[in-house]
Amino acid sequence: MTPDEAFFTVHADLPREGPGLPADVLWALELAGVSAPGRVLDAGCGPGADLEMLAEVLHEARIEGVDGVAGFVAQASARVARFGDRVRVFEGDMTALSGPYDFIWCAGALYYPGVTEGLRAWRGALARGATVAFSEPVLTGPLEGAVMEFWAGYPEITNLDGVAARVQAAGYEVLGHRMVQGAAWEAYYAPMEARIAGLKPATDPALAAAIEDAEREIALWRQAQGAIAYALLVVRPVDEAS
Ligand SMILES: C[S@@+](CC[C@H](N)C(=O)[O-])C[C@H]1O[C@@H](n2cnc3c(N)ncnc32)[C@H](O)[C@@H]1O
Repeated sequence: MTPDEAFFTVHADLPREGPGLPADVLWALELAGVSAPGRVLDAGCGPGADLEMLAEVLHEARIEGVDGVAGFVAQASARVARFGDRVRVFEGDMTALSGPYDFIWCAGALYYPGVTEGLRAWRGALARGATVAFSEPVLTGPLEGAVMEFWAGYPEITNLDGVAARVQAAGYEVLGHRMVQGAAWEAYYAPMEARIAGLKPATDPALAAAIEDAEREIALWRQAQGAIAYALLVVRPVDEAS
């Protein structure tokens, strides 16, 4: 098994691929004022947990999900099949969209292109008056100990002010934010722990290493969860401000 295959074996069939709760989606939709029919995108939708929530809540909207990983696209597609043609999932690059979208939701994926770079790329894909909601890792205190080890793979991590500066650099303004902590992370890690338990003992070296990585990540989170957070921000292009 290659390291990539091992990673996706650990991550197969998880309900979501990052921290978050249905309540986060509802909060963002309310703050963004999204309720009418329109065109909505879940960028980096992964296995489709939030896509499903968006489709359930926005009865008349056309909903799309995009992800760069074919396996996630297949999983998300199966999950939203009951909504018919109104919901569509496609494989693609979330920074190369045409839109126009009235709302872009992006949970734990904007750090791939970078907050500023990603938001800039979306400007041309937003309809007039559109908003964007995204969640992003944030520091809530010093980068030390277990927190530093947890975020070792994301050296660009900054605090909330730093994320707001990246939003402003892209020509957007922040309408509001809320922290994503505790139960939202449990919703990600608890199913992963169950998945790992079913894969053990792993004889394949790559799979054993992927399991060890995931277990270390979860253990660090349990150790320092009060200081490990995403922030969910609702933003809009500055020239759309009224
Ligand atoms: C941490 S996961 C979060 C998935 C999902 N939003 C969730 O919360 O369950 C990040 C997702 O972004 C996708 N992704 C990263 N860069 C991408 C890009 N440029 N275009 C499309 N998808 C991308 C990954 O394939 C992955 O599914």
